[in-house]
Amino acid sequence: MMHIKQVEIIRELFRQLDENVNVDAGEQLLNPAEVYTSSRIAEQEWQTLFRNQPQVIGLSRDLPETGSYITVDDFGVPVLATRDAGGNLRAFVNACSHRGARVAGERRGRRDRFTCPFHAWTYSGEGELLRVPRAGDFGELDKRYHGLRELPSVERDGLLWVQPDPHGKLDVALLPGSLGTELAASGIGEMVYQGESSIDMPLNWKLANDTFGETYHFSRLHHDTLGQLFYGDVLAYEELGRNHRFVIASRDIEDLRERPEKEWRLLDGALVVYFLFPNIQLTVSRLGANLVRIYPDGVNPGRSVSRISFYLRPEVVDALASAGGAAVDASNTYDHSARHGTDVIAPEATMEIFRSTIEQEDYAMGVDTQRAAESGLIDHLIFGRNEPALHHFHRCFSAALGLPPPQVLAAPAGLRAVGS
Ligand code: FES
Ligand SMILES: [Fe+2]
Repeated sequence: MMHIKQVEIIRELFRQLDENVNVDAGEQLLNPAEVYTSSRIAEQEWQTLFRNQPQVIGLSRDLPETGSYITVDDFGVPVLATRDAGGNLRAFVNACSHRGARVAGERRGRRDRFTCPFHAWTYSGEGELLRVPRAGDFGELDKRYHGLRELPSVERDGLLWVQPDPHGKLDVALLPGSLGTELAASGIGEMVYQGESSIDMPLNWKLANDTFGETYHFSRLHHDTLGQLFYGDVLAYEELGRNHRFVIASRDIEDLRERPEKEWRLLDGALVVYFLFPNIQLTVSRLGANLVRIYPDGVNPGRSVSRISFYLRPEVVDALASAGGAAVDASNTYDHSARHGTDVIAPEATMEIFRSTIEQEDYAMGVDTQRAAESGLIDHLIFGRNEPALHHFHRCFSAALGLPPPQVLAAPAGLRAVGS
């Protein structure tokens, strides 16, 4: 991000802090509860947004070298993605050409060959069929025509993209445009994979997404956790096509007040969350990044799975190595008093804090909302003026599916005042 933009964002955060105001969408919206519970909408979104649209499957360093691979099973097509001999991303349907068994079962690793566990047909990282055991018994087969089925894929700006449909084309117009340049400049393409975890809970994937869409809850729901580290009710927000940039002020931002603007660096006082429509939340800090991919169940609108991957900047990895495995910066912990102290915390602990906050605080609220929506007793949710990311996401969502947009909350038509 250009320095001038960083300064502009920091100034806006200071303005909101000093004036005790939050970002303002200018209106409130009513979002129908049905979008979280309807099987018809669940089917439609699955086809439109997950089966027929490019999907982010990771960051570049998820495939650090030739022979690295990852598998993904979250959007209906089993995917095997590899880094080929030329250093390029390749993606295949993770199904053997013989009888469809999964050729790679683990979530990630490094291999020169993929041998199917069923009858041991063997493929290269480029998807070519190399070996058929007992080929004489099996019968004649021209191996050139029986490799793994390739999926369209592209690596761009530090992100790995796959088109789930082998017959489809990867529509680059759906990838982030100018935002991609900003993502690349943020260093995500160099960040080093550290680990991953999953959250499988009974809430619609959009409710999971919604918990990332406002800071209104920080000082309340996260009072003892995230709220110790970041200011709530303060947000620098910008829409970029169907995506957005969401910048929250860390309490460290106060240190910048004493420094000249030319020395301001956004990540010294803020956390940047990039949202890539429809289901990616990517947090970027001075330490690294967390990639959250949020998936519907595909059938049940009341269930979703979030895959969370953790990355550190290469210089942080080096510093960790020389410190014997303890982190040099505790800015991801909730112990505010420790931020400028000895700052010792293992990356595993940081990852667990991030995961458990989402699971036990954010998504726990979403589970309640899901239950209320499914009970049929609430017709809609209200998105406040201080929640513009929710306005934007749900407007883009309804437009993508050809559904009516969320209504603006005007006079209380259809609503009964309490006591009336
Ligand atoms: S299904 Fe893979 S070798 Fe038979
Ligand atoms: Fe939250």
